[in-house]
Amino acid sequence: MQDLAGRTAFVTGGANGIGLGFVRALLAEGCKVALADIRQDAIDAALATLDNQDVIGVQLDVASRDGFAAAADRVEAELGPVSLVFNNAGVNLFQTIDDSSYDDWDWLLGVNLHGVINGVMTFVPRMKARGGGGHVVNTASMAAFLCGPQPGIYNTTKFAVRGMSESLRYSLAKHGIGVSVLCPGLVKSHIFASDEIRPDDLKAGAKAVDATAVGRLEQLHQAGMEPDVIAARVIEAIHANRFYIFSHPEFRDELREVFDDVLEAFRDYPEDAGFQQRLAFEKMRRDGYRAARQAARGDE
Ligand SMILES: NC(=O)c1ccc[n+]([C@@H]2O[C@H](COP(=O)([O-])OP(=O)(O)OC[C@H]3O[C@@H](n4cnc5c(N)ncnc54)[C@H](O)[C@@H]3O)[C@@H](O)[C@H]2O)c1
Repeated sequence: MQDLAGRTAFVTGGANGIGLGFVRALLAEGCKVALADIRQDAIDAALATLDNQDVIGVQLDVASRDGFAAAADRVEAELGPVSLVFNNAGVNLFQTIDDSSYDDWDWLLGVNLHGVINGVMTFVPRMKARGGGGHVVNTASMAAFLCGPQPGIYNTTKFAVRGMSESLRYSLAKHGIGVSVLCPGLVKSHIFASDEIRPDDLKAGAKAVDATAVGRLEQLHQAGMEPDVIAARVIEAIHANRFYIFSHPEFRDELREVFDDVLEAFRDYPEDAGFQQRLAFEKMRRDGYRAARQAARGDE
């Protein structure tokens, strides 16, 4: 998509960090922008820095399906049809899966995965019905590829966002709607303060907040990439209709290491009974998947 000017964009998690970077970049591209966030105080503070007629704030918990539909109705009434969707809101939680509760799962899955699903389910049918194309950017993370013991639930949500984004890309290509997945490394953001916005009904199973650890995270994120740098890379990737947006080039070698490990795990087993018949099916599937990738890139 070459020209974003005049389109309406909906950015979740728009009041801080990467989302606010998106908002600034989209306004500079000439878009009308809805800045959606769960924190009303942060929305107000962000709007005060923007001084732009073409942006409105919307308080929204992305985990709420009804809330999302209502926000979409309001934004489309005020700014016109949304054709650029940035499912970016996210929270983190650094603890191992075996140390986690169902409340921990429900919180992270609700925001990081269902929030993205809700954005897709709310806007994609509207975009398809109207024609006119568009683009969806889902914010995952390098944690969509790289696992450690600590961010177990976070890893789960980000792997899922990556998978759903790729599948969606292939089904939407014929509607002229592009899909990209953003996989950042460390970002200068407010995500260290995620505990502040954990819903009350999911607090019973939460561990006590470790203020020292939060302080360490805050310091760490100060060294993160500036959101405006990421947003510029994302706008360029939308123009080029690229699926993977790796904003942080320092991860290339580590990813190669991980993919090498994956390939290393294959074994040369002796042929089992169904092997040859399966190969014929897999060839057909593989050709189909390759064609879908080519079509989504626009190089059929
Ligand atoms: N900070 C990093 O180092 C990093 C790295 C990789 C990926 N990410 C991802 O980037 C995205 C943006 O995070 P960020 O780092 O800019 O953090 P951030 O905390 O600065 O911004 C996220 C925004 O999302 C909002 N939010 C949280 N829960 C919400 C909900 N339920 N409904 C609506 N809004 C909600 C927050 O209020 C906040 O304003 C997230 O998906 C995060 O997982 C961040």
